[in-house]
This record gives sequence, C-alpha cells and structure tokens, in this order.
Amino acid sequence: MESGGSRERWGTKVGFILAAAGSAIGLGNIWKFPYVAGENGGAAFVLIYIVFVIILGLPIMIAELVIGRHTEKDPVGAFKVIAGGTKWVFVGYLGVLSGFFILSFYSVVGGWTLGYIVKSISGTAAGIDSIETAKGVFQEFSMDPLLMILYHFLFMGSCMVIVIRGIKKGIERWSKVLMPLLFFILIVLIIKGLSMEGSFRGLSFFLKPDFSKITADSIIAALGQSFFSLSLGMGAMITYGSYLSKKEKILHSAMYIVLLDTLIAILAGFAIFPAVFAMNMSPKGGPGLIFHIIPAVFGKMEFGYIFSTLFFVLLFIAALTSGMSLLEVVTAYIIDERGWSRRKGVYVTGTIIFLLGVPSALSFGVIRDATYFLGNTFFDFMDKLTSNYMLPIGGFFIAICLGYKYGLENTIHELDPDTRVISLKELWAFFIKFISPFLILFLFIMLIRDDIVSLFSRLFG
Ligand code: TRP
Repeated sequence: MESGGSRERWGTKVGFILAAAGSAIGLGNIWKFPYVAGENGGAAFVLIYIVFVIILGLPIMIAELVIGRHTEKDPVGAFKVIAGGTKWVFVGYLGVLSGFFILSFYSVVGGWTLGYIVKSISGTAAGIDSIETAKGVFQEFSMDPLLMILYHFLFMGSCMVIVIRGIKKGIERWSKVLMPLLFFILIVLIIKGLSMEGSFRGLSFFLKPDFSKITADSIIAALGQSFFSLSLGMGAMITYGSYLSKKEKILHSAMYIVLLDTLIAILAGFAIFPAVFAMNMSPKGGPGLIFHIIPAVFGKMEFGYIFSTLFFVLLFIAALTSGMSLLEVVTAYIIDERGWSRRKGVYVTGTIIFLLGVPSALSFGVIRDATYFLGNTFFDFMDKLTSNYMLPIGGFFIAICLGYKYGLENTIHELDPDTRVISLKELWAFFIKFISPFLILFLFIMLIRDDIVSLFSRLFG
C-alpha cells in the first residue's frame, strides 16, 4: 500500500483512467446519447452538450476526484469529513441511493444487450428484414417477463462477480481488457456504417446544427445527459478517487476521462446515425432506437450476424464497466461505513438492486399500464428521477459543499502543481465557486417549472 493505511489502491495510472473512463463510457454514450440527440435536434444538441461538458462536467469531475482522494472514503464517509458532522451528509446518502436506483434500471438494459448477443449469434436476429419485424421482435422480447428477469439477473451477476474481486484484481483488471476492446469494435462498426448507402444523410444530421430545434427542454436534456454520461453527481468519481494514490495528477486524469467519454459518445453517433438514415428511420426512436435499427440494418446483410453480434458485445462491455462502478459506490459505502466484508456487501446490495430492478424489467410488458408514475412507466420514472433530479441536485451540493462549506483552500493542494499564466487550479476554483453550481441551479429551476406545469395540466387539464 502506498500512502499509508490499508485502503486498496489502483495499480497504475492507466488502470485508473481506463476504469474511470469505463464508468463514464456506458449505455449513456452508445444507447442514450444518439436517441436524445436525435429527439433534440441533432448537431445543435451535440454542441450544447459539449459546452456543458466543459463548463459543468469537467469542474464537477475534478471536484469529485479531489473529494475522494482527500478523504479516502465512500461518498457518505467523504461528506462526513467535508461537511464536518452537519446535516450536509445527506448529499452522500443521496449519492448512494442514486447508485441503487440507477443500477436497478441500467441492469435491465444491460440484460437486453446480453439477450441481443444471444439473438445475433443464434441467428434469431437474421430473420429480421425490416424495421417492423425488428420492432416486433423487440416488443415480444421485452414483454416476456421470464426472459427480462433472467437477463437482468445475468447482468447484475456479472457486475457482482467482478466487484467482489476488489479494485485492482476486479475493476481495474477488467477495465484494462474491456476498454481497448470496446474502442476497437466501435472503429470496425464506424467503418462499416460509413460504407453503407445513404449514410451521408445521417452524418449531416449529426454534424449540421439546426438551432431552430433547440428548446428549453433540449437544454435541460443536455444537462442531464452530461451528468449521466460522465457518471457525475452521485459520488462515483468520489469513490474511484478514494483509491487514487497521492502522486497521481487529478487535473490531467480528469481531462483524459472527460475527453474519452465525449469522444466515444460522438463516435457512437458516427456508428449509429448513418445506419439510421440508411434504413430511412427516424432518429427519434426513443429507448428502443438501437434495438430496432441495428438488427434491421444487419438482418438482411450477408455476415450481418457478425456485425450485429459485435455491436451488442460493444454495448454489453460499455454497460458492464459502468455497472461495476455503480455497484462499487454502494459496496464502498457498506464496507467503509458499516464495516462489512466486500463479499457480503456485494451479495447483499447486489440482491437488493436486482429486486428493485424487477419492476423496471417488467415495465415493458406485464405491468406496463399498472406502473404509471406521473405519466411514465416505472422504468422511465426511475431514469428521469435520477438523471434529471438526483444527479443535478447531487452535483450542485458537491460544488457548494466543497466551495463554501469545507473550503477550497483545504483541498486545492490535491491538484497538480501548475505554473501557467492562467493557472488551471485557479480557473477550476473559480468555476466551482461561482459558475457551476449556479448554472446547475438555474437550469434545474427551469426543469422543475416545466415538470410542475405539465404535472398540473395532467391533473387538471
Ligand atoms: N456514465 C454511465 C453511462 O454513460 C452510467 C453511469 C455509471 C453513471 N456510473 C454512474 C451515471 C454514476 C451516473 C452516476 O452510461
């Protein structure tokens, strides 16, 4: 062990960056980003998204890593330190709770990717020759309660098996294998996508901004998406930062993680939009988008099953490395605050998350109508509750606690020494104190206003 104590550490810097990038790069990049961008005006959304990543995402990412390394604790333990025994510790609890919630529906989609790997290899997907058939296949699949629960179980199980092994032997080792593989598969798929007829229209939708499509909703969506995609606002990066040795440079690492995450989201757009347009589909396909188009694109093609298998393996890898990080947050809390062993912690929390995910798993079929929550299925409800509410609230309080409660002067030494004219450290401190939290607050108020208005019109309109 390096800097004293018995806390486990990342083995190498590359290992840490790949694990943190693995947390960030997930279904959010490959499954969610394309359809959210598609629903919100394509390239114009992408631009706003990138601005948010730079002015909100990067400062909060650095803040989480700083808090984690400084306190060497799980999110609750970390807030006990930086909130000095006050009620602000609730920010840590909110984070752990978000981990439970997000993983519960995330694992359902992770399970779909497993199901589609099986479909692709077994040739079931090869019969798909149109969007209509693909939609039918997806519907039948997502309405089968036993299959849904089985795959959800298998995905949770995979996360648990890795997290049980711990930081270096579990999360880091697997990230080092899986992340390069993910990148390689993505490049193969992009080349394939661009070589398809009609792919050009997809590219121009993705690259040519049309600002008339931008509404308040799309700005809020960009906020939620940037937090979700970068794994921010619930202490995932606090947890990963707590295993970071004192000699690693946080600014430097944070920039790599943010850059990799954004790069992969954009590359995923390059892989998916050409295919969407080549199939004459609308990019506003919602959560089912890639489960409809990808099988339809590859269904007719010779050796298409190879590409569709590759695609769903890509999605599975992305989901797995993120699922691991969500489970690690909850596990770290149980280990640090409750004194449980890692093994017992993983078994118990993993089981609870699995059970919590069951209504999400069933919300496309048997309990579709029974679970209307403010106009959403249980699945959509969990997704919106966490991405639009819990994560921005968490991010806001992380910045406020660090900037005003604990004080930046107590933590800024965690950052890399720098002698530039405009010091990056100072710039970060300025953003955390004066820009990021207030921008989040402003956008959040806009969001609640919209949601309240629509709630009222639903109740009384
Ligand atoms: N960032 C992941 C994605 O893009 C999801 C994720 C993993 C996450 N850990 C998180 C989101 C922590 C919020 C907080 O798919």
